[in-house]
Amino acid sequence: MRFPTNFYWGGATAANQCEGAYDVDGRGLTLKDVTTIGGLKKRWQVTYLQADGTPGKSLAIPDGAHGAVLPNEYYPNQTGIDFYHRYQEDIALFAKMGFKMYRMSISWSRIFPRGDEEEPNQAGLDFYRRVFETLKAHGIEPLVTISHFDMPLHLETVYGGWNDRRMIAFYQHYAETLFTTYRGLVKHWITFNEINNTIMFLALRSQTSAADYQRAYQQLHYQFVASALVVKRAHAIDPENQVGCMICGITSYPLTCDPADVLKNRYAWEQNIYYCGDVQCQGQYPTYAQRLWDEYQVDLDMTATDLEILKAGTVDWYTFSYYMSTAITTHEITSAVGGNFSIGARNPYLQYSEWEWADDPDGLQYYLELMNDRYHLPLMIVENGLGAKDQLTADGQIHDQYRISYMRKHIQAMATAIQHGVNLIGYTSWGCIDLVSAGTGQMSKRYGLIYVDRQDDGSGTLARIPKDSFYWYQRVIASNGQALE
Ligand code: BG6
Repeated sequence: MRFPTNFYWGGATAANQCEGAYDVDGRGLTLKDVTTIGGLKKRWQVTYLQADGTPGKSLAIPDGAHGAVLPNEYYPNQTGIDFYHRYQEDIALFAKMGFKMYRMSISWSRIFPRGDEEEPNQAGLDFYRRVFETLKAHGIEPLVTISHFDMPLHLETVYGGWNDRRMIAFYQHYAETLFTTYRGLVKHWITFNEINNTIMFLALRSQTSAADYQRAYQQLHYQFVASALVVKRAHAIDPENQVGCMICGITSYPLTCDPADVLKNRYAWEQNIYYCGDVQCQGQYPTYAQRLWDEYQVDLDMTATDLEILKAGTVDWYTFSYYMSTAITTHEITSAVGGNFSIGARNPYLQYSEWEWADDPDGLQYYLELMNDRYHLPLMIVENGLGAKDQLTADGQIHDQYRISYMRKHIQAMATAIQHGVNLIGYTSWGCIDLVSAGTGQMSKRYGLIYVDRQDDGSGTLARIPKDSFYWYQRVIASNGQALE
């Protein structure tokens, strides 16, 4: 077991899932602030007011309506785990675990409450400065995601979000504001969290149309251009800046050795995983892109200047999340699973979590080795972990052996990949402190090494309690990945 010296051990969170304080210090609303709680079998909903003022609630905001906070609804992200007011205590706990790196995101609407302003909100900038300074004081390197599943609601409502080319300029202005403000404090950045989700989510829907694919591929194109532009600006503003892409890493296997399954699986890799990584790491669309666009009758608004921008703004490293794998088949599915991107055929060789995510450490090794040779860039796993229900014992402890076992197997898989020559430089476990689930809005789907006393109905003291996994991870970091028992 050998991990490089200076390996970035740490943890990861996202602003919308942990900060809370949704209406504090001039922050603007985001879609998550008007999103209700869901569950494994129940999707969350968004609340809004119709043009005539009638309140409503459904899976998406209908045309003509605007997202609104309604009385008697419960919105888990509005409070999160109140990291906004408790960041000092939380960072001290991260330091106690020995973190070298903390991955966090910035809430865009704290900096630009509407998203299209010229001047930033100073109170928002000040908050993150305090967070970064606290991290530095503890010797923890911040890794900052510029956009992690949240954007000002105003941009969604007025511009239709990433369907509009003007978003590129708003995003660029926002990112440049961060680079200049935090020059010298932050040098590790990620442009978009799980950028490939846009396309992968379509596969989870029971019905899709050509228009859905047109929209998704167009949104991705604008995001690629925005990302490439800011990579270039980040380097110009501070040559020490390093910027990565961030891909939702799903390893997929053909369910059978039927050549049709093998081909379908390869196409799934291209569409879901490689498409985004190839553009962001190699600076151009891959050959198979045209096949995908033809298949879905996509006609992109894409200029020659865009293509030059993509070329000039390739990322410095490849980061990804890894939780699970999936199995692809052309045959009738006789045993199905329903959980997130594991959805579809059940892999008979794997165990699944309560939320039906496949537990597959070999898939992580496979993914690492594949990406290492495809891009020849440093790799970072910026999310990995097990979402599970935890029991607080009578003496106020959490014995989460299941989480330790999940992380141990995945860290072992990382060690094997490193031994095989993979240039892996960091690992930040997801939800290092319990937070609101992105997929379901639940608190009971916990990933943390630190328990937070907050329940699905919003009750609880918000007290922080280190779990058994906290002390285990502390030993892992102290031994640089040697002590895994
Ligand atoms: C990733 C996201 O998809 O998975 C995180 O980047 C998210 O924001 C994490 O929380 C785990 O998913 P979930 O749905 O269990 O919260």
